[in-house]
Amino acid sequence: MSDNPAAENEKRPQFGTRLLTDADDVFKHNAWDHVQWDEEQELAAQAAVAKNSTSKMETEQKERFQTDAPKFWDSFYGIHDNGFFKDRHWLFTEFPELAPLAADPVEQQPRSIFELGCGVGNTILPLLQYCSEPQLKVFGCDFSARAIEILRSQPQFDEKRCEVFVMDATLDHWQVPFEENSQDIIVMIFVLSAIEPKKMQRVLDNCYRYLRPGGMLLFRDYGRYDLAQLRFKSGKCMEDNFYVRGDGTMVYFFTEDELRGMMTQAGLQEEQLIVDRRLQVNRSRGLKMYRVWIQTKFRKPL
Ligand SMILES: C[S@@+](CC[C@H](N)C(=O)[O-])C[C@H]1O[C@@H](n2cnc3c(N)ncnc32)[C@H](O)[C@@H]1O
Repeated sequence: MSDNPAAENEKRPQFGTRLLTDADDVFKHNAWDHVQWDEEQELAAQAAVAKNSTSKMETEQKERFQTDAPKFWDSFYGIHDNGFFKDRHWLFTEFPELAPLAADPVEQQPRSIFELGCGVGNTILPLLQYCSEPQLKVFGCDFSARAIEILRSQPQFDEKRCEVFVMDATLDHWQVPFEENSQDIIVMIFVLSAIEPKKMQRVLDNCYRYLRPGGMLLFRDYGRYDLAQLRFKSGKCMEDNFYVRGDGTMVYFFTEDELRGMMTQAGLQEEQLIVDRRLQVNRSRGLKMYRVWIQTKFRKPL
């Protein structure tokens, strides 16, 4: 498994329908959907997290990871280029809001979509590829200048319909090439988890500001007790449920209530909040890996 486990999540659709009804069948497939956790498993997860987060990182060390966060992501993209997060075939099934509009241009409404923390374009490029509507405008930002450079250099990148720029999403005042109340959709995929918890609310407040009334925030990220959280070793915990990976990038693991609380506080209304518990299986090694992801859709009221 990769050191940056988001990749594991990228390989398959999230909310599938393969259900494990007989425990003896567990090694017959590579993955099972909607897995129920029993009390014993919940307790084991709590114990693993208590163990890896008892001692917290010193303030000075923690501040270095936070201050230099764009540099660590630049290094990440320097190593992986555009080869890391791939095969996002679940994008349009989980987020049909992003799917191509009707082929008839008469029926098409102009759409504006903004992705925060777009990385090297694993959402933006499929959007440009499949949504051929001429009226579509896609914006993307990332605080990694390297990621934005890689994205701009991709052959599928279409500068007529897409504008990407370097910006730290935690700024008080976003510097963006569009007006407040203008975006039909804002997308955040495995981005809020990379941000210091105390700055998360500000990011969501700004999403609210730039969504048009009726616009939608589409979100997917790590859930509490995901395998990636349980695997952290002691010494990597910055604050509760917030860790630094071996490559210096940071990651938080959310509960439903935390996300609901922050989104609601920003003024958004809940349309979907799903916790997906998936069991991935390494059949040759007889390993069971429990993944937890959260997907939400919140709307700015009209
Ligand atoms: C796990 S990657 C996900 C990338 C992309 N959303 C995807 O799904 O492929 C997290 C991304 O968030 C970006 N990021 C982290 N903190 C950020 C911040 N404060 N402002 C802007 N981008 C940020 C990183 O540079 C990285 O590209």
